[in-house]
Amino acid sequence: MSNDFHRQLIAEFRANRGELGGMFEGWSLAVLTTTGAKTGLSREVLLGYLRIDGNGVVVASANGADRHPAWYHNIRRNPIVTVETGGDTYRAIAAIPQGPAYEKLFAQVVAEAPGYGDYQAKTTREIPVVVLHRIEPRPGEERVKGMGDWLVEVHQWFRGELRTLREQADDLVNGGATAIVRPEPDLVQEMRAHCLGFCTALRRHHTGEDSVVFPSLAEQFPALAPAIAQLAEQHQVVARLQDAIRELVDGFVPGESDPARLRTELERLAGELEAHFDFEEQAVVTALNATAAAPPTA
Ligand SMILES: [Fe+2]
Ligand SMILES: [Fe+2]
Repeated sequence: MSNDFHRQLIAEFRANRGELGGMFEGWSLAVLTTTGAKTGLSREVLLGYLRIDGNGVVVASANGADRHPAWYHNIRRNPIVTVETGGDTYRAIAAIPQGPAYEKLFAQVVAEAPGYGDYQAKTTREIPVVVLHRIEPRPGEERVKGMGDWLVEVHQWFRGELRTLREQADDLVNGGATAIVRPEPDLVQEMRAHCLGFCTALRRHHTGEDSVVFPSLAEQFPALAPAIAQLAEQHQVVARLQDAIRELVDGFVPGESDPARLRTELERLAGELEAHFDFEEQAVVTALNATAAAPPTA
């Protein structure tokens, strides 16, 4: 269809609150606004629109052509989109399910709109299906706590624990600095216990991220894959630093070991970790909130 005709259809669609006549009579359609992968400019396209399992769904069929449509390339680069259905306009993050999730979804699409099965039969390309996860709640609806919010809460707990560890290291340094007042063995014991708990929890947290949460995100959101690879690298750096600090704390002998060294190492861990938490939150919270609910609290 020509650009002019397409633009005219979009104008008509908007003017009639999502209803189109003629060959589109009775179709469920939406205008999807993406960001051009190459140009960075706003791009609008009128697409068939399905609702499956509570989410908007669009299909990159390009009428069965052998090449993916431009809007599909755009969302691979930048998944944040705007969806206009006529009655409703919302910002969404566009996920591209893979594997079994894709197979299931494509079957649901064809069950709803058999034409997409015909398009698939016309090409050897696997026609992608895109799920539009609403970012903000519907007007009047309360926002459900998402997986991203939960991740931030866990980070907040780690930030607090790290603060306690640093305070303990400060106390050790201050105690040792006076030379007469030796650091209390109790404080060292306390720090050992604290350090062990913190490091164990942090390791578990990162293992969960690397093995469960992030691989699924990277699959569904190709644009997030580089950041997620970077996060996994940071986890390794943090793990090494964590081990070094554990050894320092475990082997700390009051009056003999150098508390200043312990504190310096701890400052290094704290700096790396805080930067990591910030980067992680900025990279994945939106996608996590939109695609997964927070785990139930005990
Ligand atoms: Fe992490
Ligand atoms: Fe994390």
